[in-house]
Amino acid sequence: MKAVFSLNGALHTADVPAETLLTEYLRDDLGLTGTHIGCDTSQCGACNVLLDGQSAKACTLLVATLDGADVLTIEGLGSAEALHPMQ
Ligand code: FES
Repeated sequence: MKAVFSLNGALHTADVPAETLLTEYLRDDLGLTGTHIGCDTSQCGACNVLLDGQSAKACTLLVATLDGADVLTIEGLGSAEALHPMQ
């Protein structure tokens, strides 16, 4: 399934199986390993990203549902020259 969404400020197109979780996609397909997998049961928050400006657990989000969304991971908060305090 295709989903087109903003990822760390850039337009991104994902073409993934319907059951693909955002944590898997970020880490395994895109190499964005700043989003961690702790419990994988929606308990710990290690996988938090910003979804449309609100905190969201990436282990509960299906990539296919993100069409039109704005996703920000820890990698997108700052740059190599100007790290965000969270980085
Ligand atoms: Fe623990 Fe997502 S991995 S809440």
